[in-house]
Amino acid sequence: MIHILIIHGPNIDLLGMRERNIYGKMSLSRLNQLIRERAKNLGVEVKISQSNREGDIVSLIGKTKNWADAIIINPAAYSHTSVAIRDAILAVNIPTIEVHLSNIYQREAFRQKSLTAGACVGLILGFGLQSYLLALEAAVNIIKEKSKKCS
Ligand code: DQA
Repeated sequence: MIHILIIHGPNIDLLGMRERNIYGKMSLSRLNQLIRERAKNLGVEVKISQSNREGDIVSLIGKTKNWADAIIINPAAYSHTSVAIRDAILAVNIPTIEVHLSNIYQREAFRQKSLTAGACVGLILGFGLQSYLLALEAAVNIIKEKSKKCS
């Protein structure tokens, strides 16, 4: 069974209430439900976690070393500031996909730089909920390709 860890960063717990013109009306629990449904269809096991604390996200990434085959992360505001999360992704060496609900390149200048992106295999952004669902499919493909190469 393929294992994928999904991490939502700060303020993603406020989805549905925060800046609805940018992030839409969907709550985090509904988003997670749709992620779990897609994961089930793809036959993969997901663990989903949300934290507003940088250190907790760093620890979560470190602790998943022996469980996750891939990580999907929306580091949210920490994308633009966190060397620690970037280093954690590099340290565990698990293929990681960064997602954003919004297109950060259409937004304020300070959002147009992601420190964490360089540690990831790729980014999917600007598609709202679909960013996560597309990332799930990409993660499964990456893991399958990797296991083909190893066998
Ligand atoms: C976000 C974009 C970030 O700039 C912002 O701080 C967020 C959400 C997104 O998903 O579009 O909290 O990561």
